[in-house]
Amino acid sequence: MRDHPCGAIPENTVGQRVRLAGWVHHRRDHGGVIFIDLRDFSGLVQLVFSPEEGELFARAERLRAEFVIAVQGEVSLRPPGTENPDLATGRIEIRVRALEILNRAEALPFSLDDPETSEEVRLRYRYLDLRRPLLQNRLRQRASIARLLRAFLDARGFVEVETPILTRATPEGARDYLVPSRIHPGRFFALPQSPQLFKQILMIGGLDRYYQIVRCFRDEDLRADRQPEFTQLDIETSFLDEEAFMGLMEEMVRTLFHRLEAPALPDPIPRLTYAEALARYGSDKPDLRNPLVLTELTDLAQHTAFKVFQDAARLPDGRVAALRLPRGGALSRGQIDELTGFAKSLGAPGLAWIRVTDPARLPDGLASPIVKFLEPGFLRTLIERTGALAGDLLLFGAGAAKGVNEVLGQLRTRLGRDLGLLRDGFAPLWVVDFPMFEWSEEEHRFQALHHPFTAPKAMDLPLLGEDPARVRSRAYDLVLNGYEVGGGSIRIHDPDLQRQIFALLGLAPAEMEEKFGFLLEALSFGAPPHGGMAFGLDRLVMLMTGAENIREVIAFPKTHSATDLLTGAPGTVTVTQLRELGIQVRTRPEP
Ligand code: AMO
Ligand code: AMP
Repeated sequence: MRDHPCGAIPENTVGQRVRLAGWVHHRRDHGGVIFIDLRDFSGLVQLVFSPEEGELFARAERLRAEFVIAVQGEVSLRPPGTENPDLATGRIEIRVRALEILNRAEALPFSLDDPETSEEVRLRYRYLDLRRPLLQNRLRQRASIARLLRAFLDARGFVEVETPILTRATPEGARDYLVPSRIHPGRFFALPQSPQLFKQILMIGGLDRYYQIVRCFRDEDLRADRQPEFTQLDIETSFLDEEAFMGLMEEMVRTLFHRLEAPALPDPIPRLTYAEALARYGSDKPDLRNPLVLTELTDLAQHTAFKVFQDAARLPDGRVAALRLPRGGALSRGQIDELTGFAKSLGAPGLAWIRVTDPARLPDGLASPIVKFLEPGFLRTLIERTGALAGDLLLFGAGAAKGVNEVLGQLRTRLGRDLGLLRDGFAPLWVVDFPMFEWSEEEHRFQALHHPFTAPKAMDLPLLGEDPARVRSRAYDLVLNGYEVGGGSIRIHDPDLQRQIFALLGLAPAEMEEKFGFLLEALSFGAPPHGGMAFGLDRLVMLMTGAENIREVIAFPKTHSATDLLTGAPGTVTVTQLRELGIQVRTRPEP
């Protein structure tokens, strides 16, 4: 139906007759002439209908936004002074000789390029939203990214293998989406939270190097960077240690950025241990574009008479730390109160602060309600360690380390963003030496920080019996601009060690066999040393395309409340279907 895409009509066609097809983007009537911007995936071209054309002109008058049309006409240069330099086809226009309306469109529920349209409306009419160049470009870039990643891995001997979607639960820390079995009433498949166990079993099966671009399902609280179904680039390798594997992954990511002409990534990508990341940034996924850092004060605070600091520093897992905000002294009391409110909303009892007016004159060069409680020695060391200068603001967190890190980490993120401190470009880092376990207060047992198949560091093995909290794992996360874009580990390949870890996590032997017997058995038949990682493809694409959230790089995303507004999923099913599945619904769905 067409000779060229609308946005790419070569200028050497001037004088020729061409066939074009697309959507009516805009219609403008100007002094008896009708101009139509005809749009397709590639862009726009201007059509001109002149009144001399009689019947053709009359039909052009009936065209409305988003009608689908096919036209024939002559390519001509626009009259001097009417060119549009913003358009690839801005120097030409089409003098239409024939018009066919291929399909009509109802009046639109929103104007495609109206920035005020709510996301709810856009998702409900996603096909209209998708017609916008922004989304078109993002989906195209997403496809390019996937293609480049595949090409890299294919060239290095990786095999793409599909793993089951109807499977057993794999623990990745979220709730499962369950699928009832009709043939086995009362039994359920779980949709995979990741292909973790299958990829390990592929290594035991001798595949050596596997990857898959794969959908994963997690029933968890949604955020800007989380969807209930999302896509991983999932990777597993045999006979590589973490150095070799992380090197290969760095090369892959660096190649990807290079091919897409994104800013170059540092070589090598810097590494921080989990402990260092929390100490300096209060987070295990810090945005290194943000120059703000925390200063440790726990040791100092042990000996101050200021109760808030002393009590915190003497807790077994207590922490006192400061966040230095260069030139933050300019913040008003109102703004500081607002930050205090933010800290309290995250669970902090308060937010102590000090305005530095003259660091050479202590204590008079410091303005704060807490200065009178702090000894001269404390203040001197505080200024030394933070490097505070005149005009700076110091914010303090005191309490259990977990809470202090949360509060100061989030304040760092918020202030970095609000005050425009982030530098441009991409700041990746590896976070390594994670603890194996995290104590869960609710469940009164250890939980795996990554997943239970992650290998402990060999040198920490003796601690497994004595002090599991101090055991570090062979896990690594790749963090980019404050997002965890990927994570993985070297795995346990010894079935006895795997049993020991399961036991530490509170699994009784019978439960171990019931849930993971197949893995333990597979490990017992010659499992090679293996390890890998998974990238969050949606997050990677979001960051590379500058999108605000992952919904903008997914063709058909779910809303915050995990529904699909386009199709209305999840929906109800008939009583017959339920009966066949042996299921009775206790909560009637809201209509
Ligand atoms: P993990 O659970 O860290 O590891 O997931 C890997 C990466 O997937 C992305 N991700 C998500 N993206 C969007 N929405 C979500 N709900 C979501 N959850 C996770 C993140 C994350 O880094 N099997 C292991 C990997 C391994 O050990 O090889 C796993 O799934 O970017
Ligand atoms: P108080 O002695 O409770 O009046 O607190 C003195 C100052 O310390 C106030 O500015 C409080 O907001 C702040 N503050 C109190 N508890 C904490 C805490 N756990 N972490 C940081 N600041 C705190």
